[in-house]
Amino acid sequence: MAYETIIVEVEDHVATLKLNRPDALNALNSHLLGELSQALAEADRNDKVRCIIITGSQKAFAAGADIKEMSEKSYVDMLMSDFFGSESNAITATRKPIIAAVSGYALGGGCELAMMCDFIIAADTAKFGQPEINLGVIPGLGGTQRLTRFIGKSKAMDMVLTGRFMDAEEAERSGLVSRVVPAKSLMEEARAAADKIAEKSMISTVVAKEQVNVAYEMTLSQGLLSERRAFHALFNTEDQNEGMAAFMEKRSAQFRDR
Ligand code: CAA
Repeated sequence: MAYETIIVEVEDHVATLKLNRPDALNALNSHLLGELSQALAEADRNDKVRCIIITGSQKAFAAGADIKEMSEKSYVDMLMSDFFGSESNAITATRKPIIAAVSGYALGGGCELAMMCDFIIAADTAKFGQPEINLGVIPGLGGTQRLTRFIGKSKAMDMVLTGRFMDAEEAERSGLVSRVVPAKSLMEEARAAADKIAEKSMISTVVAKEQVNVAYEMTLSQGLLSERRAFHALFNTEDQNEGMAAFMEKRSAQFRDR
């Protein structure tokens, strides 16, 4: 399907979704987030796709929600449209792994979109921030909630209350991103990580993603039980037989998603 605000490329087992509003530093408007939700659902349905990368341009992953679109809205407009509620639910409902490959600005909704992905690989040029306070509002797509879980209360308060930006090195040190790579090799590194994920059994991949996310929703004892039961259930798959047999036979596993 052709989109206007994102470019979708499926190569081998990896779908790359590139945000493409260069004149607005990839600001997230309703059109872009609608297309992104649709493209993610499409990638989730496509049996060929085993991992997804969301990226932007060198200068900006995304500079936030589109301020021009939001500026005229009233409380009632925001409430009644549940502004970006359904889009963000659609993004986080994606079952296949999503890597955010971030270069340049990831601000406001851009930082929040990156945090909705499963992990973030940052170029050394990346800058993260929740500057909504400068606009007389607060983060609205998870910045007060996910950022706090990622980097802890003190740093999250610092970011949200001062609106300051965090560079890639600080973001890695704080646990916001999984790794920092040179800007010129960002897509190569993201692709290599996606290819590694694509080699695994899709069954254990989907279950592993679900279980890590369970850690954000349940108590430790509920989460541990949920993980243990999911682990037990994987012993009912051919891929478990194959993975363990391949280890013992000193060969690489040929998973068939069964
Ligand atoms: N919304 C709409 N347009 C945006 C935008 C945004 N979030 N960010 C940048 N743009 C537009 C600019 O208006 C400009 O367009 P024009 O040429 O038509 O004026 C174009 O992108 C280039 O931007 P700049 O000229 O400002 O580029 P710069 O290099 O001087 O500065 C920047 C870059 C520091 C990222 C600056 O653009 C900026 O501060 N952007 C806004 C960041 C922000 O406040 N984000 C939070 C948005 S609110 C939000 O996201 C709410 C939420 O949680 C859901």
